[in-house]
Amino acid sequence: MKQTIDVALPKGRLGEQVLDLFEKAGYACPAIHEASRRLVFETPDAAVRYFWVKPSDVAIYVERGAADVGVAGKDILMEYVPAVYELLDLGLGRCRMAVAGPDGFRDDPDRTLRVATKFSRIARDYYAGQSREIDIIHLNGSIELAPILGLSDVIVDIVETGATLRENGLAPLETVAPVSARLIANQTSFQFKTEEIRTLCGRLAQQRALREENGK
Ligand code: PRP
Repeated sequence: MKQTIDVALPKGRLGEQVLDLFEKAGYACPAIHEASRRLVFETPDAAVRYFWVKPSDVAIYVERGAADVGVAGKDILMEYVPAVYELLDLGLGRCRMAVAGPDGFRDDPDRTLRVATKFSRIARDYYAGQSREIDIIHLNGSIELAPILGLSDVIVDIVETGATLRENGLAPLETVAPVSARLIANQTSFQFKTEEIRTLCGRLAQQRALREENGK
Protein backbone atom coordinates (compact mmCIF):
# COMPACT_ATOMS: atom_id res chain seq x y z
CA MET A 1 0.00 0.00 0.00
CA LYS A 2 1.20 3.49 -0.84
CA GLN A 3 2.11 5.66 2.11
CA THR A 4 1.30 9.35 2.46
CA ILE A 5 4.30 11.68 2.19
CA ASP A 6 4.34 14.57 4.65
CA VAL A 7 5.66 17.67 2.89
CA ALA A 8 6.82 20.86 4.63
CA LEU A 9 6.35 23.81 2.28
CA PRO A 10 7.96 27.21 2.88
CA LYS A 11 5.33 29.90 3.44
CA GLY A 12 5.48 32.90 1.13
CA ARG A 13 6.23 33.68 -2.50
CA LEU A 14 8.72 30.86 -2.97
CA GLY A 15 6.24 28.45 -1.38
CA GLU A 16 3.59 29.36 -3.96
CA GLN A 17 6.02 28.52 -6.77
CA VAL A 18 7.00 25.29 -5.05
CA LEU A 19 3.37 24.27 -4.58
CA ASP A 20 2.72 24.98 -8.27
CA LEU A 21 5.59 22.65 -9.19
CA PHE A 22 4.28 19.89 -6.88
CA GLU A 23 0.76 20.26 -8.28
CA LYS A 24 2.00 20.05 -11.87
CA ALA A 25 4.02 17.00 -10.85
CA GLY A 26 0.76 15.17 -10.06
CA TYR A 27 0.13 16.13 -6.44
CA ALA A 28 -2.70 18.62 -6.91
CA CYS A 29 -4.53 19.73 -3.79
CA PRO A 30 -7.67 21.81 -4.41
CA ALA A 31 -8.27 22.37 -0.68
CA ILE A 32 -5.03 24.30 -0.25
CA HIS A 33 -6.34 27.05 -2.56
CA GLU A 34 -9.42 27.77 -0.48
CA ALA A 35 -8.83 30.79 1.71
CA SER A 36 -8.50 29.54 5.25
CA ARG A 37 -6.23 29.53 8.24
CA ARG A 38 -5.68 25.81 8.09
CA LEU A 39 -2.06 24.72 7.94
CA VAL A 40 -2.41 21.07 6.91
CA PHE A 41 -3.90 19.88 3.59
CA GLU A 42 -4.14 16.43 2.02
CA THR A 43 -4.41 15.59 -1.68
CA PRO A 44 -7.68 13.78 -2.59
CA ASP A 45 -5.79 10.48 -3.16
CA ALA A 46 -3.88 10.89 0.13
CA ALA A 47 -0.54 10.68 -1.72
CA VAL A 48 0.70 13.85 -0.03
CA ARG A 49 -0.09 15.86 3.08
CA TYR A 50 1.15 19.44 2.79
CA PHE A 51 1.81 21.87 5.59
CA TRP A 52 3.06 25.44 5.54
CA VAL A 53 5.95 26.37 7.80
CA LYS A 54 8.27 29.34 8.14
CA PRO A 55 10.92 28.93 5.41
CA SER A 56 13.82 28.88 7.86
CA ASP A 57 12.06 26.13 9.88
CA VAL A 58 11.57 23.62 7.02
CA ALA A 59 14.91 21.92 7.64
CA ILE A 60 14.09 21.44 11.34
CA TYR A 61 10.78 19.72 10.55
CA VAL A 62 12.49 17.44 8.06
CA GLU A 63 15.57 16.71 10.16
CA ARG A 64 13.41 15.66 13.12
CA GLY A 65 11.01 13.62 11.00
CA ALA A 66 7.90 15.77 11.55
CA ALA A 67 7.94 16.01 7.74
CA ASP A 68 9.24 13.34 5.36
CA VAL A 69 10.37 15.87 2.79
CA GLY A 70 10.47 19.64 2.47
CA VAL A 71 11.78 22.48 0.39
CA ALA A 72 14.53 24.65 1.83
CA GLY A 73 16.89 27.26 0.41
CA LYS A 74 20.49 26.25 -0.07
CA ASP A 75 21.37 29.23 2.17
CA ILE A 76 19.58 27.60 5.12
CA LEU A 77 21.17 24.21 4.38
CA MET A 78 24.64 25.78 4.27
CA GLU A 79 24.08 27.75 7.46
CA TYR A 80 22.52 25.05 9.67
CA VAL A 81 23.89 21.90 8.00
CA PRO A 82 20.90 19.75 9.03
CA ALA A 83 21.30 15.95 8.86
CA VAL A 84 18.97 15.48 5.88
CA TYR A 85 19.33 14.16 2.35
CA GLU A 86 19.44 16.85 -0.32
CA LEU A 87 17.64 15.17 -3.22
CA LEU A 88 17.05 17.75 -5.91
CA ASP A 89 17.73 21.33 -6.96
CA LEU A 90 14.25 22.60 -7.88
CA GLY A 91 15.70 25.54 -9.81
CA LEU A 92 13.32 27.96 -8.04
CA GLY A 93 14.19 30.96 -5.90
CA ARG A 94 17.52 31.44 -7.60
CA CYS A 95 19.75 34.06 -6.01
CA ARG A 96 23.24 34.16 -4.53
CA MET A 97 24.99 34.57 -1.23
CA ALA A 98 27.33 37.51 -1.62
CA VAL A 99 29.69 39.84 0.16
CA ALA A 100 28.53 43.42 -0.30
CA GLY A 101 29.82 46.75 0.88
CA PRO A 102 29.90 50.46 0.15
CA ASP A 103 30.41 51.25 -3.53
CA GLY A 104 34.17 51.30 -4.20
CA PHE A 105 35.05 49.54 -0.91
CA ARG A 106 38.70 48.50 -0.67
CA ASP A 107 39.63 45.86 1.91
CA ASP A 108 42.61 46.75 4.12
CA PRO A 109 44.29 43.39 4.86
CA ASP A 110 46.05 44.84 7.91
CA ARG A 111 42.75 45.36 9.71
CA THR A 112 40.26 42.81 11.01
CA LEU A 113 37.30 42.89 8.63
CA ARG A 114 33.96 43.51 10.37
CA VAL A 115 31.25 41.41 8.72
CA ALA A 116 27.55 41.79 9.54
CA THR A 117 25.31 38.87 8.62
CA LYS A 118 22.42 36.57 9.45
CA PHE A 119 24.57 33.74 8.05
CA SER A 120 27.41 33.54 10.54
CA ARG A 121 28.58 30.06 9.66
CA ILE A 122 28.62 30.74 5.94
CA ALA A 123 30.57 33.97 6.49
CA ARG A 124 33.01 32.30 8.88
CA ASP A 125 33.64 29.39 6.49
CA TYR A 126 34.05 31.70 3.52
CA TYR A 127 36.68 33.91 5.14
CA ALA A 128 38.41 30.95 6.82
CA GLY A 129 38.92 29.61 3.29
CA GLN A 130 40.75 32.83 2.49
CA SER A 131 42.61 32.91 5.82
CA ARG A 132 41.13 36.37 6.35
CA GLU A 133 40.69 37.46 9.94
CA ILE A 134 37.18 38.73 10.58
CA ASP A 135 34.87 39.87 13.32
CA ILE A 136 31.33 38.54 12.85
CA ILE A 137 28.46 40.78 13.87
CA HIS A 138 25.38 38.57 13.92
CA LEU A 139 22.17 40.43 13.03
CA ASN A 140 18.65 39.16 12.39
CA GLY A 141 17.52 41.51 9.62
CA SER A 142 18.05 44.82 7.81
CA ILE A 143 21.66 43.77 7.38
CA GLU A 144 22.22 46.52 4.80
CA LEU A 145 22.08 49.09 7.58
CA ALA A 146 25.27 47.85 9.22
CA PRO A 147 27.85 49.32 6.78
CA ILE A 148 25.76 52.48 6.34
CA LEU A 149 25.92 53.19 10.07
CA GLY A 150 29.53 52.04 10.43
CA LEU A 151 28.61 48.95 12.45
CA SER A 152 30.45 46.77 9.94
CA ASP A 153 32.72 47.10 6.89
CA VAL A 154 30.82 44.62 4.73
CA ILE A 155 27.83 42.27 4.87
CA VAL A 156 27.26 38.68 3.79
CA ASP A 157 23.68 38.34 2.59
CA ILE A 158 21.31 37.10 -0.08
CA VAL A 159 21.33 39.13 -3.30
CA GLU A 160 18.54 38.51 -5.79
CA THR A 161 17.99 41.52 -8.05
CA GLY A 162 20.55 43.72 -6.27
CA ALA A 163 17.91 46.44 -5.79
CA THR A 164 18.16 46.50 -1.99
CA LEU A 165 21.91 47.02 -2.19
CA ARG A 166 21.67 49.72 -4.86
CA GLU A 167 19.00 51.65 -3.04
CA ASN A 168 21.24 51.74 0.01
CA GLY A 169 24.43 52.82 -1.77
CA LEU A 170 25.98 49.34 -1.53
CA ALA A 171 27.31 47.03 -4.22
CA PRO A 172 27.99 43.28 -4.48
CA LEU A 173 31.74 42.64 -4.07
CA GLU A 174 32.17 38.84 -4.19
CA THR A 175 29.89 35.84 -4.74
CA VAL A 176 30.06 33.30 -1.93
CA ALA A 177 27.72 30.67 -3.41
CA PRO A 178 24.73 30.30 -5.73
CA VAL A 179 21.46 29.67 -3.88
CA SER A 180 18.21 27.97 -4.95
CA ALA A 181 15.42 25.87 -3.44
CA ARG A 182 16.26 22.22 -2.72
CA LEU A 183 14.08 19.18 -2.06
CA ILE A 184 15.29 17.60 1.17
CA ALA A 185 14.27 14.34 2.86
CA ASN A 186 14.37 12.93 6.35
CA GLN A 187 16.95 10.14 6.39
CA THR A 188 14.71 7.57 8.10
CA SER A 189 11.66 8.45 5.98
CA PHE A 190 13.78 7.92 2.90
CA GLN A 191 14.38 4.33 3.99
CA PHE A 192 10.77 3.58 4.84
CA LYS A 193 9.06 5.50 2.05
CA THR A 194 11.74 5.04 -0.59
CA GLU A 195 9.43 4.30 -3.49
CA GLU A 196 7.03 7.16 -2.76
CA ILE A 197 9.82 9.69 -2.24
CA ARG A 198 11.76 8.54 -5.33
CA THR A 199 8.60 8.85 -7.43
CA LEU A 200 7.94 12.34 -6.09
CA CYS A 201 11.55 13.36 -6.74
CA GLY A 202 11.49 11.96 -10.29
CA ARG A 203 8.28 13.78 -11.16
CA LEU A 204 9.56 17.06 -9.74
CA ALA A 205 12.76 16.67 -11.76
CA GLN A 206 10.63 16.21 -14.89
CA GLN A 207 8.62 19.34 -14.13
CA ARG A 208 11.78 21.31 -13.47
CA ALA A 209 13.14 20.21 -16.87
CA LEU A 210 9.85 21.21 -18.55
CA ARG A 211 9.93 24.65 -16.91
CA GLU A 212 13.48 25.16 -18.09
CA GLU A 213 12.62 24.08 -21.64
CA ASN A 214 9.89 26.70 -21.63
CA GLY A 215 12.48 29.23 -20.50
CA LYS A 216 10.84 30.08 -17.20
C1 PRP B 1 16.67 39.33 1.26
C2 PRP B 1 18.03 39.91 1.59
C3 PRP B 1 18.00 41.28 0.99
C4 PRP B 1 17.03 41.13 -0.17
C5 PRP B 1 17.79 41.06 -1.45
O1 PRP B 1 15.77 39.68 2.22
O2 PRP B 1 18.27 39.93 2.98
O3 PRP B 1 17.56 42.23 1.92
O4 PRP B 1 16.31 39.91 0.02
O5 PRP B 1 16.93 41.03 -2.58
P1 PRP B 1 17.23 41.98 -3.82
O6 PRP B 1 18.65 41.75 -4.25
O7 PRP B 1 16.26 41.49 -4.87
O8 PRP B 1 16.97 43.39 -3.42
P2 PRP B 1 14.35 39.00 2.29
O9 PRP B 1 13.38 39.76 1.44
O10 PRP B 1 14.47 37.55 1.96
O11 PRP B 1 13.92 39.20 3.77
P3 PRP B 1 14.80 39.12 5.11
O12 PRP B 1 15.21 40.52 5.38
O13 PRP B 1 13.85 38.59 6.12
O14 PRP B 1 15.96 38.20 4.85
